[in-house]
Amino acid sequence: MNAQENFTPALIPAPQEMTLLGNWFEWDLFDEVVCPPQSTLTREWILPKITPFFKAGTQTRTGTLLLVKDNLSTDRPESYTLDILKHQIIIRSGTDIGLQYGLTTLLQTVQLDSSTSKYYSPCLHIQDYPRYTYRGMHLDVCRHFFPVAFIKRYIDYLAMYKFNTFHWHLTDDQGWRIEIKRYPKLTDTGAWRSETLLGKSGNETPLFDGMPYGGFYTQEEIREVVRYATAQGITIIPEIELPGHALAALSAYPELSCTGGPFQPATTWGVFDDVYCTKEETITFLEHVLDEVIDLFPGPYIHIGGDECPKTRWKSCPNCQKNIQTHGLADEHELQSWFIKQIATYLQSRDRRIIGWDEILEGGLAPDATVMSWRGVAGGMEAAAQGHEVIMTPGNPCYFDHYQSRTADQPLAIGGYNPLEAVYTWDPVPADLDTALHQYILGGQGNVWTEYMLDEKHVEYMIFPRITALAETLWSNPEQKDYAHFLDRVDVHQKRWHQADIRYFPYYR
Ligand code: ACM
Ligand code: ZN
Repeated sequence: MNAQENFTPALIPAPQEMTLLGNWFEWDLFDEVVCPPQSTLTREWILPKITPFFKAGTQTRTGTLLLVKDNLSTDRPESYTLDILKHQIIIRSGTDIGLQYGLTTLLQTVQLDSSTSKYYSPCLHIQDYPRYTYRGMHLDVCRHFFPVAFIKRYIDYLAMYKFNTFHWHLTDDQGWRIEIKRYPKLTDTGAWRSETLLGKSGNETPLFDGMPYGGFYTQEEIREVVRYATAQGITIIPEIELPGHALAALSAYPELSCTGGPFQPATTWGVFDDVYCTKEETITFLEHVLDEVIDLFPGPYIHIGGDECPKTRWKSCPNCQKNIQTHGLADEHELQSWFIKQIATYLQSRDRRIIGWDEILEGGLAPDATVMSWRGVAGGMEAAAQGHEVIMTPGNPCYFDHYQSRTADQPLAIGGYNPLEAVYTWDPVPADLDTALHQYILGGQGNVWTEYMLDEKHVEYMIFPRITALAETLWSNPEQKDYAHFLDRVDVHQKRWHQADIRYFPYYR
């Protein structure tokens, strides 16, 4: 490697501590990878990731990649150390996930020397761990549907930047996307809408494309995605929306509504008055649905939605009004709270916990509920004050369906303006949150609602490069943040996205 080349690797998210040692590990000398016994990280898993960096040859090989599991840092299970020496690379962690993060970092250190076409990693010592335990990205597959192959790629993108959670938004008004064997009409009927609005909601003369649209994941496909995510160190949180955003389900089973229907999966965007009726029959249905969801997803959390539920139908529904009377509830907000508590109690009995959007605060939180704060951070602060765990995902700047630029050349988006710098400078802990409550903020998440993202390339365009800013916000030391330095690293990653045919927003500078 010639001396003019830059030793400093473009790591995103930046590690907690890094010392450059001078010199290089030359990948052409790579010899063997040694994995710890009883680890999910195997030679077969690692070799395909590093083989692009060396040529099979006859020269003497001396470079070993050694993964060591030790007892370090039990208080920080995701921590790892990475030592790149001239003839050996050592990754140490107390956990498989820590070893995985060390490997992810190592892969980002590799640099191509264009004059020799050889790959090198700079010699260094890294000691690293994340700032937050929850580092999430969400994807709405209801407004537009994305096949399994893309879901796996999306999970790859999360893993590349050390996210640990994929929030999979599987049901909504415009489509039900998960096979439930007990209720086949959910996907026979609920996964298909007759057509889709063109352009924005709110136009006086809305135009539609006239094309039936839909799709869903079979349970076999879901299991495959869960296996894939688990191998990458990603936990999936499935979201089954209730009591609102339920039109697709009600189109299949209109008897679960207050009025009896009939309904169609929505062909426009927004919030719809027809929601689940709070009657016993609905609760039984949802418990049966959740039974199958629990069997598919091994993670501790189930997201039950809870956002944007109009109370219009409940106000004139005899069943809902009877529930209010029978259970001594003050109003429809308490009815929503009661309904969600029935579901939360059921999930608890099945050893799972609920997460809901911040509307679940209205009328009282279910015990043990985790709140996802999206309408700003006030809901998250209130939940923390009540001793509940919080995931911060305020519209500004965590909604990646908002514009990245104020210029007129951008593809249609829902609105808003969340540029890269806003994501980078955001802090998940609000400045005015009592220090004693900081412990309740588990982390943050980027949300990708797909009303205006019709295909995979558009999703990529909306998440790159913002996903890298969020990754650094959630992982790295806030006191070491430096936007100019970050942009230099994004420039390096941009070239890799280009080579990997990942679409991205290029005008971030
Ligand atoms: C949401 O954006 N309705 C959670
Ligand atoms: Zn009702």
